[in-house]
Amino acid sequence: MRVPFIAGNWKMFKTKAEAAAFAKEFAALYQGTDVKAAICAPFTDLEVLKEAFAGTGIGVGAQNVHFADEGAYTGEISVSMLEEIGVDYCIVGHSERRQYFAETDETVNLKLKKLFEGPIVPIMCVGESLEQRDAGELFDVVRGQLEKGLEGISEEQVRRLVIAYEPIWAIGTGRTATPEQAEEMCAFIRAALIDLYGEEAADDVIIQYGGSVKPANATELMNQDEIDGALVGGASLKAADFMAIIDF
Ligand code: 13P
Repeated sequence: MRVPFIAGNWKMFKTKAEAAAFAKEFAALYQGTDVKAAICAPFTDLEVLKEAFAGTGIGVGAQNVHFADEGAYTGEISVSMLEEIGVDYCIVGHSERRQYFAETDETVNLKLKKLFEGPIVPIMCVGESLEQRDAGELFDVVRGQLEKGLEGISEEQVRRLVIAYEPIWAIGTGRTATPEQAEEMCAFIRAALIDLYGEEAADDVIIQYGGSVKPANATELMNQDEIDGALVGGASLKAADFMAIIDF
């Protein structure tokens, strides 16, 4: 049985002080909720959020990680550094990282493998561009991202995975995928997982939709059979908006 899971992706927003203020307000609003929630924040906010969310059930995630144990990789952060803080989730392969920071299916795969050695749950992002959708390549693109990203990942590991379907054309544009478009791709992803790992393992994987999710459209998206949650950018920056999405 999959529990709905709504994660916020703050991207490069919020200082430590701003994160602490959000956490105080959000923890109070979240009390008594049975939908799973997490905030994926800039590295500098992670410790603040872990402390503020202690005992609340709210998870904390990073937005990226390096795949090496340690080494001369200026500016990078390792899995063990995140584990030491007690981080629960880590986004891998967000389209902004693919676009601006040379993330590829190969680095996504290396990062997933490294994360799966420990307890941090990866949130793997997939999704097509508008050009690819218009050319009718959307399913091939996402299938390719899944196959390459998950190469060598075991059935046991994949059961813990969260996949976020984020069509690039819907991110930060205010142009949400229709519930039908989102459901169609999330169902396609589930079918691909069944193909790769069998029904039982595929059934455990949480599949989120991301791209301009707001309080106003959360309910109809979340009511789709194969959409188990959401990855929320802009609307996760305000505690009341994020809570309204969780209360879909
Ligand atoms: P928006 O919700 O701001 O469109 O961002 C979506 C996203 O990229 C979440 O990872």
